[in-house]
Amino acid sequence: MWWLKKAALMREVLRCRAVLYLSHGGYGEAAASPQRLTTPIFYVNAAPHLGHVYSALLADVQHRHAAICGRHSSLSTGTDEHGIKVQQAAAALGSSPSELCTRVSQKFREVFDAIGISYTDFVRTTEPRHIQAVQHFWKTLEDRGYIYKGTYQGWYCTSDEAFLSEDQTKESKDTSGTTIRVSEESGHQVHWMSEENYMFRLSALRPKLLDWLQTNPIHPAPFLRIVHQWLQNELPDLSVSRQSNRVSWGIPVPSDPSHTIYVWLDALINYLTVAKYPDPNCSPWGPSMHFLGKDILRFHAIYWPAFLLAAGLPPPAKLFVHSHWTCQGVKMSKSLQNVIDPTDCIHRYTRDGFRYFLLRNGSPERDCDFNHTAVSKLLNSALADALGGLLNRCTAHTLNPAQCWPHFQHKVVPSSSRDQLQELLGALQRLPEQVDQFMIMFQAHKALEAIDGSVRSLNAYFQSQAPWKLVKGNEDEKAWAQCILYITLEALRLYATLLQPAVPDLAKTILDRLGVEQEYRTLTGNFFVSTHGGVCHFEGQELGPECGLLYHRLVDEEYQEQKLKKPM
Ligand code: MSP
Repeated sequence: MWWLKKAALMREVLRCRAVLYLSHGGYGEAAASPQRLTTPIFYVNAAPHLGHVYSALLADVQHRHAAICGRHSSLSTGTDEHGIKVQQAAAALGSSPSELCTRVSQKFREVFDAIGISYTDFVRTTEPRHIQAVQHFWKTLEDRGYIYKGTYQGWYCTSDEAFLSEDQTKESKDTSGTTIRVSEESGHQVHWMSEENYMFRLSALRPKLLDWLQTNPIHPAPFLRIVHQWLQNELPDLSVSRQSNRVSWGIPVPSDPSHTIYVWLDALINYLTVAKYPDPNCSPWGPSMHFLGKDILRFHAIYWPAFLLAAGLPPPAKLFVHSHWTCQGVKMSKSLQNVIDPTDCIHRYTRDGFRYFLLRNGSPERDCDFNHTAVSKLLNSALADALGGLLNRCTAHTLNPAQCWPHFQHKVVPSSSRDQLQELLGALQRLPEQVDQFMIMFQAHKALEAIDGSVRSLNAYFQSQAPWKLVKGNEDEKAWAQCILYITLEALRLYATLLQPAVPDLAKTILDRLGVEQEYRTLTGNFFVSTHGGVCHFEGQELGPECGLLYHRLVDEEYQEQKLKKPM
């Protein structure tokens, strides 16, 4: 029943929109404040790769989209620097953990700057402000009776820094054929551990977590179902410290320095650190919108809301969960040496080309494979041919010798063209709302698909109307050609405005070429005003300076190599 589905979707859009505009001052009560967007914080035991960039990019595009809609938001990112993994990686390199952290954290910053992640805060878990937040949070959990001392016995996965029950592990073979035990979820090796440490009363929070799930906080829906499934069973209490003689690189338990705080409790609190917790004078912690990959769902969908609820704070408003990038069908990972270097991709495709590909071909719901041929094909077709072609055509001197925005006059639209024009304008005017809905529902790929579809339809319309012939015709035909040109320029202004979050440089090139002033680069103004009989600010205004080709067609080296190898 499509209308039931549509009504349910609309309800969800409205609910998400309310969350986007409001941040809760307490669980349930609303107060207007900016939305807080966060990326995961990144482990510093390996250099940044394409998968990391994707997590950050999804949050960035949401942050930039909020800005063009006139909504205020913040975006935090950073590096996760404690724990046994980092301790071991530093030892293997013969450097100190702190040296390794500083070096790799800086690499993340550089890559994020290069790809244009517009973060408003970059947090490192080794910073004093974070250590203070973690220790204050720990004391709050202790004061509220959620921490006790106990003996933890079970499996520990160092790669994932996760405690696992027997049924979350399975037997496997390592590369030499030796039988080992691995995590069912990640496939990483686990080791048996028996240690006296501090435990968190996770078991007591299951009912509250189930209540929280009723608010539909996890997108897309398949991930919500997975969490429901996990919560079908009782939750065991969680070990939240390690003895510091085993894990020394971390934050000590405030009342007992012989224990180090569990690295995931430490890391998740970064979301509070950037909200200036525990400063009582800062804006109250409102539920954030966290962007994360599916491999860290359990930590964000069970542990994090449980920690917050135990501390008397509101749980996250939204978790936006994405799937993974694979390389020839295998998840990218440092250990498999199949990672794609984002810096190399920025050189090959420009930062906007790379951003566009990741956002358009990535999908939160399913894993996507990265290959250079697919990148070239998409960028040539969408950016060089469709969008770049349209810009070239409607700003060409042959068609627009005055290099001005022409006027639109209703009366010169030929009666045979009116219905088709009405349909075209209707679709163009619905586009901003459609794009906004996709963005709110965490579907950037669909938003870009909708814009690209519209660009292609308009190209086809332009081709069918052949304004280059009309400008050589009688007065009416000339005037009609000006109307077509006006609509095309106005549509390009709309596309470029909508594309700013995804491809900020290309969008700027288009808006500069169209001579659009800075204050007109948001979605808060109106489009196609003249077609409703209003006065359009741009009519008669000069275009901006020439910009050359919008996006240079790529030569796909891999494709060319394959062609050369093939016998003729
Ligand atoms: N440090 C933790 C997160 C703590 S957040 C409080 C961590 N770090 S990570 O560096 O391993 O991963 C960071 C993000 O990169 C995660 O969202 C993860 O899903 C994402 N990706 C890592 N590899 C990926 C792919 N191959 N594809 C897409 N994203 C993946 O986990």
